Amino acid sequence: MSQTTEKPFQIGDIVMDNRVVLAPMAGICNSAFRLTVKEFGAGLVYAEMISDKGIVSKNEKTLGMLYIDERENPLSLQIFGGDKTTLVEAAKYVDENTTADIIDINMGCPVNKIIKCEAGARLLLDPNKVYEMVAAVVDAVKKPVSVKMRIGWDDEHVFAVENAQAVERAGASAVAVHGRTRVQMYEGKANWDIIRQVKENVNIPVLGNGDVESPQDAKRMLDTTGVDAVMIGRAALGNPWMIYRTVQYLETGELKDEPGVREKMDVCLLHFERLMQLKGESVAVREMRKHASWYLKGIRGNGKARSAINQTETATELRAILNGIVQEYEQRESEIYVPEQKEIII
Ligand SMILES: Cc1cc2nc3c(=O)[nH]c(=O)nc-3n(C[C@H](O)[C@H](O)[C@H](O)COP(=O)(O)O)c2cc1C
Repeated sequence: MSQTTEKPFQIGDIVMDNRVVLAPMAGICNSAFRLTVKEFGAGLVYAEMISDKGIVSKNEKTLGMLYIDERENPLSLQIFGGDKTTLVEAAKYVDENTTADIIDINMGCPVNKIIKCEAGARLLLDPNKVYEMVAAVVDAVKKPVSVKMRIGWDDEHVFAVENAQAVERAGASAVAVHGRTRVQMYEGKANWDIIRQVKENVNIPVLGNGDVESPQDAKRMLDTTGVDAVMIGRAALGNPWMIYRTVQYLETGELKDEPGVREKMDVCLLHFERLMQLKGESVAVREMRKHASWYLKGIRGNGKARSAINQTETATELRAILNGIVQEYEQRESEIYVPEQKEIII
């Protein structure tokens, strides 16, 4: 499938450069991470889910989550809520007060706190409710609206096609489908066959999501399901190269090398500096602990550095540890790089 001859991936009037999309991830997809991933070529980035009630009540922390750097667009901003009135009000706020290109409604979050509010994956049990919520938001805003959903609640309640058709009928411009049920949480395998069925039964663009772990997986997802774009979540954690390598692979068929240690640590540091600007030193250092350990994946002998990172409280210490990893690696470089094992030894 040649990428150049196909019609571009488009949601409403927003045209993307390619079909590789960063998934929304709570606690991860803030502006610092999104911009970093964007620079690795993502066609579209999703922001982490944001509470409708937090927006409507103008909660300071929630409003801070709406920050978008102008270099990130096109960007989809995801809201969640189980009450139509507040969902619509929050969508209007996002429509009028942010530079997001697309407003996405979360219908996939499996956690109890969200389900109890009739939000997230709870909505998947009732296609009529899906229609009602989406139609109300579409009517209230100018920006294109999309939905990200799971395939269903449990094996007995897989209403993926009905729900996606309700989303389309309600006037939404796209639907993203994660091929798991709510009950599966993140266990088992994502069901790409149901994603294919959704694609065959709606006319709006469909984004396929779940278990895309390599550029080859992304191509397989596009080829076997016919979706308009692939959405990548966990494989991009500490690994924006996954996005770059996937874009390259889809466009040219070439599989680019994995990054080396210096490159990994340089990007980790850049991500950290951005997080510092966004959230200040103390929060950024704590949040960066999990990211740093993801960036360190594949570097053998990283145990010492990981535990040091988990105890660090200051930016100076964190920078020193990350730079130390590069120095240690470069001293021993000649003996050690083993690309076939996808592992770098320090
Ligand atoms: C840490 C984490 C946070 C997530 N937060 C969100 C979220 O805010 N909104 C959402 O729709 N999905 C969320 N998801 C689900 C992902 O967007 C995606 O559907 C899921 O991880 C499957 O894709 P993957 O196999 O590429 O990771 C989250 C997943 C993870 C791992």
